[in-house]
Amino acid sequence: MNQLLVEMFVYGYISVEVTFFMNFALLSGRLLRSSLLAAVAFLPLVGSSAHAADPPRIVEKDGRYALLVDGHPYLILGGQIHNSSGWPSELPQVWQSMEALHANTVEAPVYWEQIEAQPGQFNFTIVDQIVEGARAHNLHVVLLWFGTWKNGNMHYVPAWVKQDPKRFPRVIRADGEPIDVLSPLARTTLEADKAAFVALMRHLKSIDGEQHTVLLVQVENESGNIGSVRDFSEIANREFAGQVPADLLAAAQKSQGTWAQAFGGDADEVFQMYHQAKYINEIVSAGKAEFQIPCYINVWVDYPAAELPQRQIDTPGIAYPSGGAVQKMVGLWRKLAPAIDMIGPDIYTSDSRFYRELLHDYHRPDNPLWIPETGREEPFGRLFYYALGAGAIGFSPFGIDHPGKADPTETKFPWHARNFALIGSMDGEIADLEFSGKLKTAVEEPGEVTQELDFNGWQATVAFGFPQFDGRRAPGTKDQHGTAVVAQLGPNEFLVTGSDASVIFHLTGQLPWMHSEFLSVEEGRYENGAWKSSRLLNGDETDRGIQFHDDETVVRVTLNRF
Ligand code: DGJ
Repeated sequence: MNQLLVEMFVYGYISVEVTFFMNFALLSGRLLRSSLLAAVAFLPLVGSSAHAADPPRIVEKDGRYALLVDGHPYLILGGQIHNSSGWPSELPQVWQSMEALHANTVEAPVYWEQIEAQPGQFNFTIVDQIVEGARAHNLHVVLLWFGTWKNGNMHYVPAWVKQDPKRFPRVIRADGEPIDVLSPLARTTLEADKAAFVALMRHLKSIDGEQHTVLLVQVENESGNIGSVRDFSEIANREFAGQVPADLLAAAQKSQGTWAQAFGGDADEVFQMYHQAKYINEIVSAGKAEFQIPCYINVWVDYPAAELPQRQIDTPGIAYPSGGAVQKMVGLWRKLAPAIDMIGPDIYTSDSRFYRELLHDYHRPDNPLWIPETGREEPFGRLFYYALGAGAIGFSPFGIDHPGKADPTETKFPWHARNFALIGSMDGEIADLEFSGKLKTAVEEPGEVTQELDFNGWQATVAFGFPQFDGRRAPGTKDQHGTAVVAQLGPNEFLVTGSDASVIFHLTGQLPWMHSEFLSVEEGRYENGAWKSSRLLNGDETDRGIQFHDDETVVRVTLNRF
């Protein structure tokens, strides 16, 4: 594997030499050496124990995470389809929509009500169609298990579950009313969901154990209660009046007591969370015993009240599904549900500050960052670069297919499509660079028309908006959509791209062009892992910084100190 990587880099530079041999023989020799250095710098990333035959898995190094697919870090440029698009009638438009989005991974639901319409009789026809269709369209798949919970309700459970509240008891509100959420305290419900999930994972292993089309499985969807902070059934109340279980006390570093004594005003929510985390953990453990691929949960996060005006009160069970892994619960969830590989926030606010707060809250030493759902609207386009800069293993806008449309060859979401086309042309390289901590991003913010990115002695100054005149501040863009990606390939070598931004390098504490200069700025692209240079940029294209408009320019820069 590592040998192959070296060969790919060498091949990339051999082709550079052929193209520019006469004029740039000396320069190419230097590039070859530095690119070999860069290749060597990548070598430890893959890890000697990773093999192409291994199923996908999450790996950690120095607090950074990667999703390894066939032995290489993989960046999910995903698109989640609409809730009712996981049906044969919709798949043709799904594939076209994914292609128009330039996504490399489709997120598609599997409905409990669909695969087990009759108890114990499983039908995986649609799962097969999703996996085969994805292969035919050169996509990977994230499967979403819509089981006991979907958006804090139970709307995707089979009719035979909905119709048997005795066997599958519902959450009871404080006023004694049952609601459309199943109680996680019922062993019978847990066993039924678990049996279906286990059957699904067994089937996945049979169809994908070798090919690794399916990368991740999401277990449940935005689990929790909408409509009550906890289950107030008799059995739940009895348990709530008793002592807090030892595993939760240990996880929360609390001493003995009742729920109310240990958790005060949060006791109801923590009670719900505890039962839910244990319930899902048991389902995941059983599923992974059949097929060991990463499983995660997604979260309806706790928004500031103003973000959701229709839910003004920040109360669990009203503002968000109570029991879910909202920001304050992530740590407890990680400890109580160790079988789960990741907890991913669904982020539907384009408020850049809050977006970054959420990236921070879910990117923890014990939790890889993964954005399983986010907004598809234009303001979310630039936020992709925050996720990339924070080391996310993937980013996936929701609702990106075009239900009912026969020929969605044009995406309605060109901002995401542009990002995915640009980064998708080198997604393997970007995933490597993220995992090695060598990639940084700049995202324009109001009033911040320049930004500095630091790289051990070198700094990149990013200036947003054009035209940029000598001696004047960059103008910024009208709607703050300027972005840049800068990644260090070697001591003096960088990969750079961006949109409506210029990038110039300088030594820390020095002005650009003082004791430093470009040795070369090569415009080009990666093809199957090999860099193909198309021309050298110089003069007006580099003297005031390398300029990036919206044409998906990518450059490799080599710098010199003098
Ligand atoms: C979040 C859910 O997880 C999705 O399934 C979908 O319902 C979206 N909300 C709709 O905005």
